[in-house]
Amino acid sequence: MGVTLPALTPLEDSLWLTLCCRALDNRAPKPILGDAMADEIVRTLDYDYERLKIGTNLMLNATLRAKKLDEVTARFVARHPDAVGLDLGAGLDTRLRRISAPPTVDWYDIDFPAVVTAREDLIPSEPKAHAIGADVTEEDWLDAIPTDRPAIVTADGLMGFLTHDEMVALLNRLIGHLPSGEMVFNSYTPFAIWAARHSRGTKSVAELIKFPGFNDPREPESWNPKLQLVKEILFSREPEVAQFPTGLRLYYQLQSHSTAWSRKGTIVLHYRF
Ligand SMILES: C[S@@+](CC[C@H](N)C(=O)[O-])C[C@H]1O[C@@H](n2cnc3c(N)ncnc32)[C@H](O)[C@@H]1O
Repeated sequence: MGVTLPALTPLEDSLWLTLCCRALDNRAPKPILGDAMADEIVRTLDYDYERLKIGTNLMLNATLRAKKLDEVTARFVARHPDAVGLDLGAGLDTRLRRISAPPTVDWYDIDFPAVVTAREDLIPSEPKAHAIGADVTEEDWLDAIPTDRPAIVTADGLMGFLTHDEMVALLNRLIGHLPSGEMVFNSYTPFAIWAARHSRGTKSVAELIKFPGFNDPREPESWNPKLQLVKEILFSREPEVAQFPTGLRLYYQLQSHSTAWSRKGTIVLHYRF
């Protein structure tokens, strides 16, 4: 298939990291997520994922993170078949396909216009999937999202690229626009931000990281009175760790005994508003 992608900026290019992690997971004998579409896109474009130097730990973390976001989202849309779903900084991810949403759910993938163009070239359209080409730190794009339906907002791999103020403003705009719902995104402690800036596997995005991180998952509750923490998902305590290779499995099982230590790794935060 001859697909020519638009030229992407380094920030837009970050989509490859998470996409390739999910593609590599799909090629494992026992995938954590089993994202066949990610695998197909990487194969279609013959993308040279080896240049990203993705290690097993990064691959497992990125994939498990997507799975946890999927689980929260799937539960929400099952309870709210009239929901709208938003994926902020969607890249080439196809969460809607993975979660078996009721056909009444409208889904919005939001990313920069060039990424949306690439999505249109690579991902077969679906009746209830809409793409919005926009910078999420700007205001107008939310006008396209209904204001009278419960909403599930997801963001996988986006927050690290926002400043603290941009993230607070984004959450406030979402809560001001949407009547009620839930939000789920991966977050970072200051240590995790430091690690992302210095690890080999995240070298391609190190210069782009702007978020300072926060330790207390309740901190966002102080940004907007409607926001309430539902759950801090610490990966060391998730059952999928049992599938990890021995060394990593033992490391995470040990880490699971300490909340402070577990927070140094990948965290998914789930809120309601
Ligand atoms: C690490 S990738 C993750 C992509 C996708 N969520 C996934 O899991 O594969 C980060 C994505 O966020 C997008 N992004 C970063 N800053 C953004 C912004 N201000 N507005 C819209 N998209 C943004 C990038 O273009 C990129 O596609």
